[in-house]
Amino acid sequence: MTYIIQLGLGGVGQALVRQLSAQRAALAAQYGINLDYLALIDRSGALYTGQALAKAAVMAAVASKQAGHSLANQGPLRPLPALLPSTPAIIVDVTAADGMEISLGEAVAAGHRVVLANKRPLTAVLPTFTALTSNAATSYEATVGAGLPVIHALRSLRDSGDKIVRIEASMSGTLGYLCSALEQGEALSSAVQTARNAGWTEPDPRDDLSGADVARKALILARTWGLPWEMDAVASEPWFPLELASVSLDAFLQRLPELDATFATRVAAARTHKTVLRYVATIQPDGASVGLRELPLDHPLAGLRGTDNLFAFTTARYAEQPLVIRGPGAGIEVTAAGVLGDILTAARMLR
Ligand SMILES: NC(=O)c1ccc[n+]([C@@H]2O[C@H](COP(=O)([O-])OP(=O)(O)OC[C@H]3O[C@@H](n4cnc5c(N)ncnc54)[C@H](OP(=O)(O)O)[C@@H]3O)[C@@H](O)[C@H]2O)c1
Repeated sequence: MTYIIQLGLGGVGQALVRQLSAQRAALAAQYGINLDYLALIDRSGALYTGQALAKAAVMAAVASKQAGHSLANQGPLRPLPALLPSTPAIIVDVTAADGMEISLGEAVAAGHRVVLANKRPLTAVLPTFTALTSNAATSYEATVGAGLPVIHALRSLRDSGDKIVRIEASMSGTLGYLCSALEQGEALSSAVQTARNAGWTEPDPRDDLSGADVARKALILARTWGLPWEMDAVASEPWFPLELASVSLDAFLQRLPELDATFATRVAAARTHKTVLRYVATIQPDGASVGLRELPLDHPLAGLRGTDNLFAFTTARYAEQPLVIRGPGAGIEVTAAGVLGDILTAARMLR
C-alpha cells in the first residue's frame, strides 16, 4: 500500500480525488498498485486519522468542500512534517501556495516522493529545484501545459542525448484567449472582462497579464533542459505599464480601457504585416524571453486558437521540423489527470 498526502483541495484537488477513487481498483488489479489517502489538507484544516482514509470519508470531504465548507470541519490544520509516515509516501501539492518548498524538501530528504501541480516550489532558487528533483524524487508534469506530456517529452529528448536548440511555446490559456479575441476585433478591456467572468484569469488578472506565470513555466522548462538558471534569466514583457502594477484591482480594471487603443493599433499593424500576435516564450541556451510577438502566418504558433497551448522543440534530431505538442493547457480534469499520471510513476518508483 502507498500512502498519499494531498495538499490542496480546490478545483484540481477535487478532480484528482474523484479520478483516483474511480481508478483505484483498476490500478490495483492491473499493476498491483494500491493507493490510499493518508491526509487531505487545505488552508484551514486536515482530514487525517493516522491510517488509510475510508473512501466514504474522502468523498464526503470533497462534497463538503464543493459545498463551500473548509476542511477545518474535518480536523485541525497540521504541518506536513507531523503527518509524514515512517514508510515512503507520495506528497501531492495541488495548491498555488508560496513557501511549500521547505516542507516538501524535508519530505524528499526523508525518502518520500513529491508530485506537483504547483509551480512555485520549482521556481525558488536553483539549489531548491536541484534538491527537489535530483534522483527524480519530484514529478511535475502538470506545472507546464496541464495534462500535456511536455515535461516527459523534454526529459526524453534530453536523456536520449538529443541536443536541444530552442523551445518556443505559447503556454498561457488566458493570454492565448486574449490574443484570439484581439484578432477578432474585441477591445482588450472587454476581452479581459470576458475571460475574468469565465474564470480563466487569476482573481487579479494582472497575475496573468504581467507574464509572471508564463515566465515561471519558462524557468521550469529551462531547468528541466539542464540550464542552471535563476528567475532573472527570463525577461518577461507585461501587458500593462508599470504605473498600473501598484494601483488597486478596482482601479486597474477601471483604467484598463486606456490600453485598448494601443492594442488595437498593434493588432492592425500585425494584420498589415501579414502576421498575428501571440504571447510567446522563447528559451535558448543564452537566455529566455516572454512577450507579445508578431509571427508569420505559417509559424506553428500562428494557428493557435483560444486557450490551447503549443510547444515546439527544435533539436539536433528535430532540426527541419520541430517536435510539436499541442492541446488544452488548462482545465481541472486534464490537469488532475496529469497529476495522477505522475502519482503512478512515483508509486512504481517506490515499489
Ligand atoms: N486550474 C487549472 O487549469 C490548472 C492548470 C495547470 C496547473 N494548475 C495549478 O494547479 C494548482 C491548483 O489549481 P486550482 O485551480 O485547483 O487552485 P484552487 O482552486 O485555488 O485551489 C487551491 C487549493 O490549495 C489550497 N491551499 C492554498 N494554500 C495552501 C496551503 N498553504 N496549505 C494547504 N492548502 C493550501 C486551497 O485551500 P482553500 O480551499 O482552503 O482555499 C485550495 O484548496 C495551482 O498551482 C495551479 O497553478 C491549475
